[in-house]
Amino acid sequence: MIVVKNISKRFNMHNAVDNISFTVGQGENVVFLGTSGSGKTTLLKMINRLIEPDCGEILIDGRSIVDQRPEHLRRGIGYVFQNNGLFPHYTIEENIAIVPRLLGWNRDRIAPRVISLMEKLRLPPAQYLNAYPNELSGGQQQRVGIARALAADPPVLLMDEPFGALDPITRASVKKDFKELDELRSKTIILVTHDVQEAFELADRIFLMDGGRIIQEGKPEDMFDRPATQYVKDFFEGQRYIFDHFKNSQH
Ligand SMILES: Nc1ncnc2c1ncn2[C@@H]1O[C@H](COP(=O)(O)OP(=O)(O)OP(=O)(O)O)[C@@H](O)[C@H]1O
Ligand SMILES: [Mg+2]
Repeated sequence: MIVVKNISKRFNMHNAVDNISFTVGQGENVVFLGTSGSGKTTLLKMINRLIEPDCGEILIDGRSIVDQRPEHLRRGIGYVFQNNGLFPHYTIEENIAIVPRLLGWNRDRIAPRVISLMEKLRLPPAQYLNAYPNELSGGQQQRVGIARALAADPPVLLMDEPFGALDPITRASVKKDFKELDELRSKTIILVTHDVQEAFELADRIFLMDGGRIIQEGKPEDMFDRPATQYVKDFFEGQRYIFDHFKNSQH
C-alpha cells in the first residue's frame, strides 16, 4: 500500500505539487489525469525520490521512503519515464537488465528474463537484443522502457505517460500488449496521463489534477455522475460516449 500525506513541491515561486494526499491499495491501478503542467511528473518522481518533496510524507507498505536509501527503494519500484529515458549507450539488452544487474542476479537468470520480456512486448530478441535505442522506433523504445521497468518484477510500477508521444495506431498496439502482460497481475500501478480515454481504460480509480492539486478522486463514472466542480464537468464534457464505448467493449 502506498500512502501519500500532504506532500508539496515548489519550484521558484510556483507550487508544482500543492498539498496532495492519497492512498493506493495493494494491487490497485490508479491513474492521475491532468493537463500539461498540472504536476503529474513531479508527483510521480517524488514517490521514488527522484525529487524530494518540500514537506509531507510518503509510506510504502508502512515504511517511510526517506528511511530507505534511494537506490534500495527504487529496486522495488519500476519506473517508466516520460519520453522513455533509455540509456543511449547501452544496448537494448543492457537497458532492460539494469535493475537485475544492480540486484546481483547472475547471467543465467538475467538472459532468459530479458528475452522473455522482449518476446512478450514484441521486440524480436534476435533483431534487437544488441541494438541501441536510436535504432528503434519511438513505439519500440516505449516497449523497451516498459520491459526495463518490469525486469526485476517490482511490486510497484510508476508510469509517466508511457503511451504518450505515439501515433494513435502505435499507441493502441503498445497498450494492448502491455495490458496482456501477466506480469501486471497483483502489481500496484500509478500511471499519469493527460489522455481521458487512457484513464478510462486502465484505472480502477482516477485522480483528476489541476494546478498541483487533486480536484476529484473516484471511479471513472463518478467523474460524470458526481463532478465535484465545474472544472471536472468541463474536463469530461463530451467524453461520456468514449467511456460507454469502452465499458461495452470490455464485456
Ligand atoms: N525542475 C523544475 N524546475 C522548475 N520548474 C519545474 C521543474 N519541474 C517542473 N516544473 C514546473 O512544475 C509544474 C509541473 O510540472 P510537471 O512536469 O510535474 O507537469 P506535468 O503534469 O507532468 O506536465 P506534462 O503533461 O507536460 O508532462 C510546471 O509548471 C513546470 O514548469
Ligand atoms: Mg509530465
